[in-house]
Amino acid sequence: MQREDIEALHARFDRPGFGTTTVDEIDYIQRLIQKHKPKRFLEIGTASGLTTGFIAHFLQENGGTSVTSVDLSSSFFGERDKSIGYLARDIYQEGRVEIDIRPRKSALDLAEMKGPWDMAFIDANHQHPWPTIDTLAVAHHLTGPRIVIHHDLQLYRRHKKLRGVGPRVLFNEMPEENRHVDIANGWNIFSLDLNLDPVVIEHIAIGAFSMPWTTHPPLTESTVSKVRACLQYGYSANLIAEFDECVAVNKRSLPARAFSHLRHEIARRFDDLGLRK
Ligand SMILES: C[S@@+](CC[C@H](N)C(=O)[O-])C[C@H]1O[C@@H](n2cnc3c(N)ncnc32)[C@H](O)[C@@H]1O
Repeated sequence: MQREDIEALHARFDRPGFGTTTVDEIDYIQRLIQKHKPKRFLEIGTASGLTTGFIAHFLQENGGTSVTSVDLSSSFFGERDKSIGYLARDIYQEGRVEIDIRPRKSALDLAEMKGPWDMAFIDANHQHPWPTIDTLAVAHHLTGPRIVIHHDLQLYRRHKKLRGVGPRVLFNEMPEENRHVDIANGWNIFSLDLNLDPVVIEHIAIGAFSMPWTTHPPLTESTVSKVRACLQYGYSANLIAEFDECVAVNKRSLPARAFSHLRHEIARRFDDLGLRK
């Protein structure tokens, strides 16, 4: 698609608060689709479906056949009365590429869908460790080019209340040769080339899991079981053991961990001053 056509469609449908991709980020996705020519594309985090619709256009122009998009929610957060992904078919009306929107699903549900996929765009929960969990879940269902695009590398510094560090933690763990960040929207979008030895992928995941988790509230027991079940397909017992250890460490919320640290620090100072028996 020509840049002017992307701009025109984007301007017609995007609204403040839609939390979607910018024109130059969409163009980065287009360039990756032109380069790798995926047949089947997967998106994690649909929201309005604006990006999904553009992906369908790019697939049509490059021999692709379908885009599947999953979202935990059934309604779009920007317009509560609208269904998840409602814009996708307004933006892409041709119909040659199948658009398969899956509400109330996450990357942990991919086994029950019609995989595998050739390329993915992850733009869901940006709190750590979600982007890493989503990447591991998606990687297991990827064939072909095995390229995974991530959005919001700069979220942790732009949205001071949200501090979505997840994409940044994962990006930092990736070997330089297997990650590519684009200048779009101030270096906010990147892609990972997952053509790596599974041992290396696990090493990267363990590095990321080992960083303090910011997801709040902490993962529930049932989510932990789902992640474990997902990791059991295709990953080693070692990765699952490391994940379990990190779950235990991060069980309490970040404020609770900070408070506990503070209590220990105060006790230590009291000890230093000889104020405690
Ligand atoms: C930033 S929006 C996605 C924007 C969309 N990709 C676009 O470009 O227009 C994030 C979406 O992810 C969904 N979400 C949050 N956590 C999720 C998860 N663990 N799995 C799937 N979707 C999730 C939210 O409901 C929300 O609709």
